Amino acid sequence: MVQAQGDPVIRVDAREVEKSEPTGGRVRHTRVHGHDNTYLAGRRAIVAFAVSIWTIILIVIAACIVATGFFALPPSPDDHEKNGTLPAEDLIPLPAPKIMGTVSVEEAISGRRSVREYTKTPLTISDLSQLLWAAQGLTDPSGLRATPSAGALYPLEIYAACGNVNGLSGGVYHYLPQSHALDRVIGRDVREDLYRSALRQPSVRDAAAVIIIAADYNRTTKKYGEQGIRYVHMEAGHASENIYLQAYALGIGTVAIGAFDDNGIMSLLGFPHNQTPLYLMPIGKVSTRAS
Ligand SMILES: Cc1cc2nc3c(=O)[nH]c(=O)nc-3n(C[C@H](O)[C@H](O)[C@H](O)COP(=O)(O)O)c2cc1C
Repeated sequence: MVQAQGDPVIRVDAREVEKSEPTGGRVRHTRVHGHDNTYLAGRRAIVAFAVSIWTIILIVIAACIVATGFFALPPSPDDHEKNGTLPAEDLIPLPAPKIMGTVSVEEAISGRRSVREYTKTPLTISDLSQLLWAAQGLTDPSGLRATPSAGALYPLEIYAACGNVNGLSGGVYHYLPQSHALDRVIGRDVREDLYRSALRQPSVRDAAAVIIIAADYNRTTKKYGEQGIRYVHMEAGHASENIYLQAYALGIGTVAIGAFDDNGIMSLLGFPHNQTPLYLMPIGKVSTRAS
């Protein structure tokens, strides 16, 4: 083919046409769509179709996962409480806590001891109410509680395994601070099972009830990272000490028990996977106050 000088040079490619034009000594290359525009458009349409099909498939899979609640944590009674979805008739209201007593703080601090033997006298529901309030009850309309909490995130959950409490059938109850009420989570007396999971410490079997302090670490670690673990343990200590002091003031004995089989307690109590038991605190009337 004879190429006239100054004519554009056209190189034909299978998919594109590249046109070179001399422009005053320099060659300008421009890409022009050639005869296979239809082929390109078709290929792009197929790719776009495939991408959109996969996008739709992924959206449908994600929607199914969300709809089945696959990743959702099992709702805790406290969630129900917050959401207002727990039927009121399922909650057991507790007597209002008293904020005046006959034993001074100084007396309680100096008289407190770990007590491992109790009488058979039943606890009253007021006793239990007072102890649970001391552990985690609300002390301010804003939601602040009886014990300090890093960032006011309140990672602790308090349960009471009751066997000898007047007015409460044997069972495990979850304390709901917001409504100062109990939600029964197990309908049988589990003290004997707790005793086995707590290295057969007799105080657990012989108590009228056992308070369980559990924690959801994530509530604190999501803000404070690793340091949050330490904070949660400190908070369990605060709650435990409040129970000790309140128990002393009520003529009730208690002991902080840390020696137990975590998994045994968790499966016995049916804890959601995000809750870890930290302390067991058996509670029972004592004949004479330890001093
Ligand atoms: C973290 C921790 C774990 C404990 N674990 C147990 C336990 O498993 N069993 C028990 O009988 N006492 C336990 N105790 C109670 C201690 O034995 C008790 O506090 C100590 O003997 C001091 O006595 P006091 O509390 O009367 O002052 C524990 C105390 C703490 C602080």
